[in-house]
Amino acid sequence: MSRSRRLGGVDPLGQSCLPQPPPYPHQTRTPDLVDFNWDALGFQLLPTDFMYLMRCSSDGVFTKGELVPYGPIQLNPAAAVLNYGQGLLEGLRAHRKEDGSVLLFRPHENALRMRIGADRLCMPAPSIEQFLEAVKLTVLANKRWVPPTGKGSLYIRPQLIGSGPILGVAPAPQYTFIVFVCPVGHYFKDGLSPISLLTEEEYHRAAPGGTGDIKTIGNYASVVSAQRRAKEKGHSDVLYLDPIHNKFVEEVSSCNIFMVKDNIISSPLLTGTILPGITRKSVIGIAQNLGFQVEERNITIDELLGADEVFCTGTAVVLSPVGSITYRERKVEYGKSQEAGVVSQQLYAAFTAIQKGLAEDSMGWTLQLN
Ligand code: COI
Repeated sequence: MSRSRRLGGVDPLGQSCLPQPPPYPHQTRTPDLVDFNWDALGFQLLPTDFMYLMRCSSDGVFTKGELVPYGPIQLNPAAAVLNYGQGLLEGLRAHRKEDGSVLLFRPHENALRMRIGADRLCMPAPSIEQFLEAVKLTVLANKRWVPPTGKGSLYIRPQLIGSGPILGVAPAPQYTFIVFVCPVGHYFKDGLSPISLLTEEEYHRAAPGGTGDIKTIGNYASVVSAQRRAKEKGHSDVLYLDPIHNKFVEEVSSCNIFMVKDNIISSPLLTGTILPGITRKSVIGIAQNLGFQVEERNITIDELLGADEVFCTGTAVVLSPVGSITYRERKVEYGKSQEAGVVSQQLYAAFTAIQKGLAEDSMGWTLQLN
């Protein structure tokens, strides 16, 4: 039997087959890399060694956090996050370089976005420095889970939750900031193959004045029903339209969308209902540096269907080419459908080269941890 670890870390008897974490990361030497079948990585939860916890009480000040073994946390059933969805999440990636160091991609942007979301949900948030420190410590404590170069990356999931109990609708009396990590491969099951999107007209992801532009947990609970319906019909994911006219393209369940027409790259304008993706912003910057004309504007579904190429961006999906979009029973295929378009390939290569430390980071986007 292979010595490689099983994905999910549980053997057929339900017992953990993962190595037990040492008591504290600095006390025991652990192997540099977990013995694991890295080629089998998908985007599934895999328990790692440590997570970071930092609490804040009603004074709104986060006290010093700590690394603790990864596992369940205790929550009061009246916690605001459980009852009223007072919670935010973030996502960022770390890549292992050939020299063994680890690169974080634009963590500062996630820290800032969490602070903006926290303000909207009336939550105190960690300072930028506290956020960065927590991410660095958690990644280094779980360094043996950062996949070998070229085999995936470590997905980092910071969370801010209203953990204090409350009965009436109001901000929670206490908050908890958590960071956990998980090694991941491709988000969509067919890897980098172009994805198939189903346009959704009945449900909307967000409405003007709502919370579509912050990374609140409820934005994701509300998309799973349409996503399940799309998957049952053989599609990879759902494309959302604006809630007023049902005509302008917004985003996909967990990523932003772009189109390419006559070599001009366009993405829907951020008008409050669309998540300001960090990958979206980075890809726009890279495209402009490569000399492309980039437009952020309202895009109708008809325009999207007439595009030369379509692709999605997000921390989880990275840059995924779209092979087809189905709208009102009409399926439009892009290019050769089995292959990413030329512009998508060029942007994917340029973006991932910076993320992985293979190209010069002239924008100063990466943060190296040793
Ligand atoms: C990310 O891209 O990091 C996200 O947060 C999407 C996630 C919900 C899968």
